[in-house]
Amino acid sequence: MKEESSDAIQAIIWDDDHLKIIDQTYLPARTVYIELKDIGHVWEAIRKMRVRGAPAIGITAAYGLYLGIRQLEVRDFDSMWLELERLSEYLGQSRPTAVNLQWALGRIKKTVYANKELSVNDLKDLILKTAVTIHEEDKRICRRIGLNGVDLVPKNCGILTHCNTGSLATGQYGTALSVIYHAFIAGKGIHVWVDETRPYLQGARLTAWELQQAKIPMHLITDSMAGYLMKLGKVDMAIVGADRIVANGDTANKIGTYSVAVLARQHNIPFYVAAPLSTFDMSMKSGDEIPIEERDADEVRMIRNQHIAPEKVPVFNPAFDVTPGELITAFITEKGIIKPDYNKTLPSLFEKG
Ligand code: MRU
Repeated sequence: MKEESSDAIQAIIWDDDHLKIIDQTYLPARTVYIELKDIGHVWEAIRKMRVRGAPAIGITAAYGLYLGIRQLEVRDFDSMWLELERLSEYLGQSRPTAVNLQWALGRIKKTVYANKELSVNDLKDLILKTAVTIHEEDKRICRRIGLNGVDLVPKNCGILTHCNTGSLATGQYGTALSVIYHAFIAGKGIHVWVDETRPYLQGARLTAWELQQAKIPMHLITDSMAGYLMKLGKVDMAIVGADRIVANGDTANKIGTYSVAVLARQHNIPFYVAAPLSTFDMSMKSGDEIPIEERDADEVRMIRNQHIAPEKVPVFNPAFDVTPGELITAFITEKGIIKPDYNKTLPSLFEKG
């Protein structure tokens, strides 16, 4: 049994009166922390994917809402509430698919409303306190997800993962990557196959970097190699994170996840999704309702400012796809492993609270 490291990467830090984040656009070449001192900075950092990954976006937005309201002169609860609605609407539009963003903003608003008799200054303090709570809770939840997933990992197995779901994408440890990390320290003898995750290369730039720091054995592959590896018998399970999971189990995650799930089914390989309850959206019945973000065409035409396609070539660049619930073997959450029939098991998870 290896030691669990307490110095795991902290991608988001509340530093006295402002936010500090690792600017992920510089990785893996350089680890650069940037300071976010107002809500406009936070909006830009989320939109430009300086911070990314569903839980990390939610945590950052929570602090962003505090930074926004802190600088406003509001006299009473009613004017503060109007501003909170306006600012959370603004932050909520920075990225549409990951529901954690809406979830975190909604949680803050609910807490404020429940305490509306407090003074405006006390409410401001409460908003910061709630953001810190969301952040600290996420660290504990991600650790729990990792520990809950360990039993699903066979000894000496190959694990394929897509995108980045580690400490960079969460408060700490990650979701799918937390399972991988905890399986590694439990001595399972794992080997990780990391999809590079075109076009934004979260796998190549970020997951490979995180796994290297944790000294977890891996190979980086291009996305198109996954099927061949499965055919060769090198993949025993696939595990990914999620941006939004709806009531029937349909799951939005990084573009390319659906292809991995189809390949896994074809090769009889279990396909797991690891996510906190804050990523589940029971207000939607099916994946058809999930808004899918489309990003700039140059993310596909260019790599690191170099054109790899003709300058004006038309591009379709959806950032996420939806994997049907029937392709998902189980969800790994902080409350345990959730199996089909998702139309029944997911809603009952939330009814229990
Ligand atoms: O566009 P990104 O990099 O924010 O997308 C990230 C993903 O799709 C992750 O798999 C998901 O947010 C889960 S992160 C724990």
